Amino acid sequence: MVAYFSYSGNTEKVAKQIADYTGGTLAEIERETPYTDVNEEGEEELNSNACPDIEVNVDNNVDGESSRIALLPISFQNQCCFL
Ligand SMILES: Cc1cc2nc3c(=O)[nH]c(=O)nc-3n(C[C@H](O)[C@H](O)[C@H](O)COP(=O)(O)O)c2cc1C
Repeated sequence: MVAYFSYSGNTEKVAKQIADYTGGTLAEIERETPYTDVNEEGEEELNSNACPDIEVNVDNNVDGESSRIALLPISFQNQCCFL
């Protein structure tokens, strides 16, 4: 399974390439309330250690897939709150 969050489309392109190459199922992570000002809201989340509510859209049943790859914005590396 290839799970990803993409605000402006770059990560989505890479995730699709990886899914094509590996045969893994794409799982799009979306913020329930889309960012209106990503810089301000992203900084607020980081500073307050908050994690936004998310939805994950998966096309298939991934029970049989042995590997999971996650592609997330760089600022989420510290908190990994989407995982
Ligand atoms: C909430 C949020 C916070 C971000 N914070 C940073 C950051 O602190 N430093 C940085 O270099 N990029 C930051 N980014 C930019 C992401 O790393 C960027 O979106 C990444 O290049 C993937 O691009 P994409 O949204 O087009 O898929 C942030 C993006 C988001 C959505």
